[in-house]
Amino acid sequence: MSTAIAKKVLSDRINRIEVSATMAITAEALKMKAAGIDLADFGAGEPHFSTPQHIKAAAIEAIEKNFTRYTAVAGIPEVRKAIVERHKADFGTDYAVDECVFSAGGKLAIFNAVEVLVDHGDEVIVPVPYWVSYKDIIEFAGGVPVFVETSEAENFRVTAKMIEAAITPKTKAIILNTPSNPSGAVLSSEDVYAIVRMAHKHGVYVLLDECYVYLTFAGEIFSGASATECKEHVIVLGSLSKTYAMTGWRAGFALGPKQVIGAISKLQSQSTSNAASFVQKASIAAVTSSQDCVKEMRADYIKLRDRIIKGFQTIPGLTCTVPQGAFYVYPNVSSFLGKSGIANTTQLAAKLLNEAHVVVVPGEAFGTSEHIRLSYAVSGDVIDEGVKRMREYFKSL
Ligand SMILES: Cc1ncc(COP(=O)(O)O)c(C=O)c1O
Repeated sequence: MSTAIAKKVLSDRINRIEVSATMAITAEALKMKAAGIDLADFGAGEPHFSTPQHIKAAAIEAIEKNFTRYTAVAGIPEVRKAIVERHKADFGTDYAVDECVFSAGGKLAIFNAVEVLVDHGDEVIVPVPYWVSYKDIIEFAGGVPVFVETSEAENFRVTAKMIEAAITPKTKAIILNTPSNPSGAVLSSEDVYAIVRMAHKHGVYVLLDECYVYLTFAGEIFSGASATECKEHVIVLGSLSKTYAMTGWRAGFALGPKQVIGAISKLQSQSTSNAASFVQKASIAAVTSSQDCVKEMRADYIKLRDRIIKGFQTIPGLTCTVPQGAFYVYPNVSSFLGKSGIANTTQLAAKLLNEAHVVVVPGEAFGTSEHIRLSYAVSGDVIDEGVKRMREYFKSL
């Protein structure tokens, strides 16, 4: 018999966070699919397109040429150069290669940025609704998320005034995500620049999550990092996952002041080391080749958005803001709450899954209590079938 004194197994740090709600739903849906159940699956936030051929070819070529060893921790200079040049061409920014780090996914870039900036007790301002992982990433670092409510009636607009009202001496950073996951809302460039300037004035960092920036449906695309006079306090967090249908490849990056990027590289040197070598080569192909594939996918998302919004108009009681980017819709389901014992959107999502075989993510995962999120990066047929099932299910309540 062991005489060792019983110690708790898991650290406080890991106990502060939860499994990502979207990943949990995806896992449940996968189990049901494996059991032969036909699901209309709007759960996973990933493109239904295959990775474009020229990107795959670059990875295959890299592997065949044995580009399969460790690389520099922050990524090879060529991929970092390709990324800063893409950002410069699209947004007029001017990052040096050592102001860019390539990471194994945008999520890791965000995680790393928060880890190197946020100390215990530091506050990070997060507009609601927020991407599911921000809260846990901040809490894992020991930080405190400070949520700023927005209004659906104003398309979830976030202004400098709203953010400034939440700033305290403990505020370290603000996370902005436009186009937004989960709402698909797009902030105006004026609002984003005003937030960046206000934050700079206060010495607060702005983490710009540009995961969906190329999936903006109307108007000019822009980056808050174009306010170059505020560069010292701006960190761009980018991902190739959605732009190029590369979710499984794990390709993301951070752009920012050398000190912060250097710290992220140091953290990577003690954790993942470099992102996969051949993924870096594929990423060069993605950002330097013609961007027509992005335009084509975006055009399809717009059609799918219109199709699902039109479908929702046939569901009495469901209301929905029209998303201007990303590939999510965030309908308001408040008129169904309280019916048939459904107390909240988590219960509603579970019922939709088990009784209607429709996969959605509850708004509670994103900080709101009256919505569900659907990803419409699916075929038109799945949209039609899913909307039909929802209409019948909601009618039955
Ligand atoms: C808002 C947002 N940011 C960042 C990410 C991270 O993407 P990835 O880690 O696949 O690059 C996602 C993925 O769903 C997202 O929705």
